Amino acid sequence: MLVTQQPVFRKFWHPVMPLSQLAAGTPQPFTLLGEAIVLWLGADGEPRALKDRCCHRTAKLSKGRCIDGALQCGYHGWTYDGTGRVIRIPQYDEGREIPAGYCTPAYRCQAAYGYAWVALEEPLAPIPEMPEFGAPGWRTIFQFHEVWATSPVRALENSFDNSHFSFVHRATFGVAAQPKPSRYELVEQDGGSGGFYAETVIAATNPPAFHRVSGSSEPITQRHMRNAYYLPFARRLDIEYPSGVRHVILNGFTPIDDGHIQLCQWLFRNDTEADCPAQMLIDFDHVITREDKDILESTDPDAVVDLRRRGVEFSMDSDRPGILIRKQLMELLAAHGEAEVHR
Ligand code: FES
Ligand SMILES: [Fe+2]
Repeated sequence: MLVTQQPVFRKFWHPVMPLSQLAAGTPQPFTLLGEAIVLWLGADGEPRALKDRCCHRTAKLSKGRCIDGALQCGYHGWTYDGTGRVIRIPQYDEGREIPAGYCTPAYRCQAAYGYAWVALEEPLAPIPEMPEFGAPGWRTIFQFHEVWATSPVRALENSFDNSHFSFVHRATFGVAAQPKPSRYELVEQDGGSGGFYAETVIAATNPPAFHRVSGSSEPITQRHMRNAYYLPFARRLDIEYPSGVRHVILNGFTPIDDGHIQLCQWLFRNDTEADCPAQMLIDFDHVITREDKDILESTDPDAVVDLRRRGVEFSMDSDRPGILIRKQLMELLAAHGEAEVHR
């Protein structure tokens, strides 16, 4: 599937960048579903997003500057508000009216969990709820915000795939001697239109370096995994250790273009900095995500989504979550009059 060729994905919120990246007051470029956009913070501190193209002579607005919550083009200084309207042309005499058509497209943009989220068109679903964010007893750690040369379907499927641990993660938590994944309970939400929920308990190696992460010193520990899929490209993984420590991850696999995603990964923990420092948790998940990144970047980003396309990719029983993701994506496409577009 070529994500930029499926217009329905424009109708969802995608996490784009941490608000901290905008705090310095410099407009920031991003490419979402092949669309060049620019983000900045308005006077009220809320993020704004416009097409990254000035309506005067097409200069990239991300090369401009933020002035009093407005965005000024770096070429001739035309200045935009958050709705994309030109509100100032410095070359005009004072009081001269700016024609109403002088504007560039604006996109829906809102702050959530410390990130700016953008929907290119009226969104069909809200941003996934993360009750742990800001809740007493929980801390939020911004783990990763980086580009991966893969597609959202590949990253999503990988995040629900328990049959790769013994191979991809054999150097970290994977138990090499147990290639058969434990049983995964899958429950579709809202008749399948609203993602699904998957639950399993897996054995995980627990060397001394992981003791503070798991809150336990057993050589092998258990991970009770509650994994939820949110259409189209987000998931929440709640890992509970027997110690009571919870390691809750939110991933947004934001589509940049047909071969790249922005991996956004938040971590929520119910322990303290003294129990396990944030940097140790980042380093722990960094090693694991490098293992996934390396193998995912070797796959074809144009993943088969329409399972009627036979003979391109072959499946096994444990691919069930990935098959369900495909089924739900196909239903979404069909509901919007789209078929899978691929190479
Ligand atoms: S190109 Fe933007 S002001 Fe001229
Ligand atoms: Fe993995």
